[in-house]
Amino acid sequence: MAERIPIGADHAGFEMKGKIVEALARLGFEVQDMGTHSAASTDYADYAHPVAHAVETGEAARGVLLCGTGLGMSYAANRHPHVRAAVAWTPEIAALARQHNNANVLVLPARFISEEDAIATLKAWLETPFEGGRHERRVEKIELPEAS
Ligand code: RB5
Repeated sequence: MAERIPIGADHAGFEMKGKIVEALARLGFEVQDMGTHSAASTDYADYAHPVAHAVETGEAARGVLLCGTGLGMSYAANRHPHVRAAVAWTPEIAALARQHNNANVLVLPARFISEEDAIATLKAWLETPFEGGRHERRVEKIELPEAS
């Protein structure tokens, strides 16, 4: 059964979301498009929270978000327990976000990345496994602020 990946964007990420939806479908994923569905001005948190909620609850193993810089989406998504949303704009950063940080949400900065680079970044994030080992301990500490 195909893995279902929820995706969300605000108006700044709307156009690129279409390209990412197509790329995910080509790669064999079932895409759950949680909006926005037009280029009309809207609020990034309205899309970050539903996608992050799906990952937080385990309804989805991972999700994708897009906004202008990627920052607003990451701030909102990272308020959800168990969500590690990484802004990435190169395949190298996306791979490290997986290897070292076990990022389960990819956030693309749509106003600062080409379509080609966005798709290459997406593929690197999808294909790169978490390294575990010492990174396991570090990732666990993200949710334990009182432990350090
Ligand atoms: C929208 O203009 C822009 O502020 C938003 O897409 C995002 O970049 C916020 O972090």
